[in-house]
Amino acid sequence: MRRLVLALSLPLVLIFVGTILVSVANAQPVVSDLTLGAQFYDKWYAVLGVSAPAGDMPIWSRQSTNTRSGEQTWRCSECHGWDYKGVSGAYSAGSHKTGFPSLMNILPNLSQEEIIAHLKGEKDPAHDFSAYLDEASMQKVALFLKEGLIDDSEYIDVISLKVIAGSSGHGRDLYQAACAQCHGEDGKTIIFRTEGVQESLGAVARRDPFRFLHRTRFGVAGSEMPVGYDLGWTPADGRDVLADIRSDDDLRTIPVVVMTASTSGEDRIESERLEVEAYLTKPVDLRKFLALVKELKSYWREDVALPILG
Ligand code: HEC
Ligand code: HEC
Repeated sequence: MRRLVLALSLPLVLIFVGTILVSVANAQPVVSDLTLGAQFYDKWYAVLGVSAPAGDMPIWSRQSTNTRSGEQTWRCSECHGWDYKGVSGAYSAGSHKTGFPSLMNILPNLSQEEIIAHLKGEKDPAHDFSAYLDEASMQKVALFLKEGLIDDSEYIDVISLKVIAGSSGHGRDLYQAACAQCHGEDGKTIIFRTEGVQESLGAVARRDPFRFLHRTRFGVAGSEMPVGYDLGWTPADGRDVLADIRSDDDLRTIPVVVMTASTSGEDRIESERLEVEAYLTKPVDLRKFLALVKELKSYWREDVALPILG
């Protein structure tokens, strides 16, 4: 009799265990404080789920090379760069150039308290975020800046923007395990809309590899993307995923942009089939058309320091 009870209860126990495992697998990934700090650096108002303050950040007017305005001017990443090196890094030229300081160079000399004091405007009243970020948020940003910055000049050639010594085979394995279910095998399932241009994951990786690496390692606020850092990835793992997504073939490094007067969905679908990087609807008005060409040129070619050809 006892044996029978035991035999009957066994399948029940197994089912129970099975259910627990499934619910753990579906749980939200744990986001560490350092990761949140990195997402604040990327776009703090998106982490907080609020709109950016109105107008330009007060310090913005100290430069005129970067002509963006409004919400972008409030992002740490826009002023200090996706490589954290401001005036001494990849964004020392191109449309994102601000000439503002490199945090990578300053940080070794600053304590976490000094970083927070700076975010409160104690050194420069124009650099005051205390109306928007509370103490706990500032601590996360400071933690990221002190312990999370990765010097990507080891992984990306700042001049040619080529990946240095990556293993795209290893990157493919990581990509398939953690990324393909949302972005698709070819990185084209999610199309990003950045400053009016639509692009695939591969296009982001080629155009702005530093941004790609920051977001692969630390995620994107508001998305349920797994975070490389919290999965225990090393900096080289991120680099290998970058190498993989850019390795399709050599020709793919030349961006193909389709420009057309047609707004029909059919053309779009055809372009996507042919795997173009971006698709733009050409305005019929000549002046608007020229403005668009200019914008496109700066988008593709001036976002980061121009590669020196030859
Ligand atoms: C509009 C451009 C702009 C934005 C946005 C911006 N900064 Fe700065 N930051 C500067 C400039 C310019 C300086 C140097 C002059 C100064 O200290 O104000 C600076 C200096 C710093 C310093 C160095 C302070 C020191 O002691 O030398 C740190 C740290 C810093 N910023 C972190 C951040 C963080 C974190 C964010 C996002 C929450 C951010 N910054 C957003 C422009 C900006
Ligand atoms: C759960 C679905 C999901 C998974 C899995 C996922 N992503 Fe994402 N990813 C997203 C979403 C959603 C966005 C944000 C889209 C937007 O901004 O509109 C995003 C954005 C990004 C961006 C930012 C692109 C830009 O324009 O700056 C990068 C880079 C990226 N993902 C890389 C990866 C990598 C690498 C992996 C594997 C480690 C991955 N993603 C896994 C859903 C996912």
